[in-house]
Amino acid sequence: MKKPCTLFVILLLPLLITTVSAQLRFNYYSATCPNVESIVRNAVTQKFRQTFVTAPGTLRLFFHDCLVRGCDASVILASSTNTAEKDHPDDVTLAGDGFDTVIKAKAAVDRDPNCRNKVSCADILALATRDVIALTGGPSYPVELGRLDGRISTKASVQRQLPHPEFSLDQLNSMFASHGLTQTDMIALSGAHTIGFSHCNKFSKRIYKFSKTRQIDPTLDPTYATQLRQMCPINVDPTIAINMDPTTPRTFDNVYYKNLQKGMGLFSSDQILFTDSRSKDIVNIFAANNTAFQQAFVTAITKLGRVGVKTGKQGEIRRDCTAVN
Ligand code: HEM
Ligand SMILES: *[C@@H]1O[C@H](CO)[C@@H](O)[C@H](O)[C@H]1NC(C)=O
Repeated sequence: MKKPCTLFVILLLPLLITTVSAQLRFNYYSATCPNVESIVRNAVTQKFRQTFVTAPGTLRLFFHDCLVRGCDASVILASSTNTAEKDHPDDVTLAGDGFDTVIKAKAAVDRDPNCRNKVSCADILALATRDVIALTGGPSYPVELGRLDGRISTKASVQRQLPHPEFSLDQLNSMFASHGLTQTDMIALSGAHTIGFSHCNKFSKRIYKFSKTRQIDPTLDPTYATQLRQMCPINVDPTIAINMDPTTPRTFDNVYYKNLQKGMGLFSSDQILFTDSRSKDIVNIFAANNTAFQQAFVTAITKLGRVGVKTGKQGEIRRDCTAVN
């Protein structure tokens, strides 16, 4: 009696999942809002000129959105009781400028009478992410569209869904694999740490209290560790944030991987990609060849953009990105 059910799960479930992601397409808004790409790009460019944090803030927001309940802009929903996704400790450091980028781009889209209430916040976030990557010198790529916005956002749903900076390679791989992302995808996506900032508490253990016998993580370059201690003294102001790529902090390039080769990965989850022999070869390839990194990144972020996509009755086109309709 149990067999047909198991067969259904094994054979049909992957098919259903494929069908959902297959509903995404490049020209999804060609009839309803043909200029959506240029409208979003202009709004994002304007915001980027005001503040650089627009870029890392938007990119990280997309990642955190997709890993929790899928790419459905649930991370943008606000709660009057502070119980939304964004209120979880893993999300509280998401930069406000990332949220603001989506809200501004949505306002620009809705100023076009043809487009009003036709484009989802989830798609605007996916487009804005592509745009900030291009604005910081990274690759540009076509974005699959057709995601609907989710109606649920809870603090509880974030639990154990996002990677932590002290994760092992196995933990990183299994978390990404649960969303259909390979180790190579994970290594390429980690290259997002080529731009943006981190608060000192995210890595302070590596420079002060690594283990009972060592203060400093031996996989850290000693000179870099000294610099990190200067920027992040003990009892540092908790609002201080430092560049994650100390070499070219504002450029989306493969220097992140060159830094790993030198022991200059900020988190142990970064450095492990080079110290573990299972992932080292890919790091070396990306460090040597920016084109190879860019191609792998585009493949991986396109796959990330398919995670848990909502269509049909599962979602809606939100009028206000911070609230359900
Ligand atoms: C592989 C596992 C990952 C871990 C453990 C991780 C962890 C972190 C941590 C701890 C921070 C600093 C947060 C803070 O102190 O405010 C950060 C920042 C950031 N992460 Fe990740 N991350 C990972 C993967 C990713 C991926 C896949 C992306 C995007 C594709 C991404 C994009 C970013 C960006 C852009 C920032 C800078 C944010 C800003 O400046 O506002 N990260 N990450
Ligand atoms: C760099 O990577 C690209 C894309 O994978 C490849 O076509 C090219 O041959 C590589 N270049 C070198 C010098 O290896």
